[in-house]
Amino acid sequence: MAKYKIAWMPGDGVGNEVMDAARIVLDAMKFDAEYIPADIGWDFWCKEGDALPQRTIDALKKTDCALFGAITSKPKEEADQELDPSLRDKGLVYFSPIVRLRQLFNLHTNLRPCKAYPGNPLNYKDSIDLVVFRENTEGMYGGVEFHPVPQTVFDALCEHPKMKRFGEVGLDNLAISTRIMTRGGCKSIVTQAFEYAKKHGYKTVTLCDKPNVLRETGGLMMRTAREVAKGYPEIELWETNIDAQCMWLVRKPEEYGVIVASNMFGDILSDLAAGLIGGLGFASAANIGDNYAVFEPTHGSAPKHFGQNKVNPMAMLFTAKLMLDWLGELDDAARLENALATVIKEGKVGTYDLGLSNSTTEVAEEIARKL
Ligand code: IPM
Ligand code: MG
Repeated sequence: MAKYKIAWMPGDGVGNEVMDAARIVLDAMKFDAEYIPADIGWDFWCKEGDALPQRTIDALKKTDCALFGAITSKPKEEADQELDPSLRDKGLVYFSPIVRLRQLFNLHTNLRPCKAYPGNPLNYKDSIDLVVFRENTEGMYGGVEFHPVPQTVFDALCEHPKMKRFGEVGLDNLAISTRIMTRGGCKSIVTQAFEYAKKHGYKTVTLCDKPNVLRETGGLMMRTAREVAKGYPEIELWETNIDAQCMWLVRKPEEYGVIVASNMFGDILSDLAAGLIGGLGFASAANIGDNYAVFEPTHGSAPKHFGQNKVNPMAMLFTAKLMLDWLGELDDAARLENALATVIKEGKVGTYDLGLSNSTTEVAEEIARKL
């Protein structure tokens, strides 16, 4: 029997191509795993009305963790239009399967390292080495939204004096998305950020929110972070506002180590940070819970590139490295990171984003040779 059972979810578009690339490399490493294919993605929404079928959830429960390629998500109107006609008007609602997975499996922590590897011509600056910790199940991704707003919800919100000015608008002309955060959620993400900083020798943890405006949710995050920070006197807590932080990441990205943020702000920051180290072709991510994890690169399904075997598989391969870390296969993780770093440094084999002309497969094969 193989040492690990890994759920294998290529998902949509180029997710398939980068997962094939991951397989080339994992096999070359002789990584001892059985891969369990699982259905997820846009096709299953269109054909079955569910992008994350129950059979997939059941299959995942029998695995150690999951590797996931990419997902296509579209706004409400398009999702409804592309649904199989026989399934329309049944009240089916599209929800992003990755967001659902995070919530279903309580994958509370999203880890997104952004490191400028030497020799990458796309590095914005060479000394960038930061890690975004994104809270992964709460905040603006909680999914508690209303349109039209039910009268009872409206009445309850009118407990707050500021709600009154929306009174004349009409329930039909009002849309509400919530930002719900718990003390436990804040504490957990900040603690993980500090633990990571401690373990990997980062000197600062930057809490990035907007407590001057979002006084309650941002405030809770800030107050909790200050409490947690007391347990780590050797690491400095920096507090910044999301807008200013975006500016500072462009001006002085090398000054930051670990950055911690709520769900939506972490989503935005991690794309910005990815842009500093070569773009989404390099940006890896791990969705981590207490007993399960789903590893998925930050990039999407890139429909316009799909079918050409041309996208950069490195984001996926760095993501596989995060999986090996999480599984405790630290030697293999280091071996994979070194192989990636070597290929980047040599600068001879690479995809179009690097100004080179190799295919996804060729890059994976080159990395496999360097292992
Ligand atoms: C990400 C993605 C997802 C998110 C989308 C696909 C729902 O942007 O993983 O960062 O917003 O979390
Ligand atoms: Mg994102």
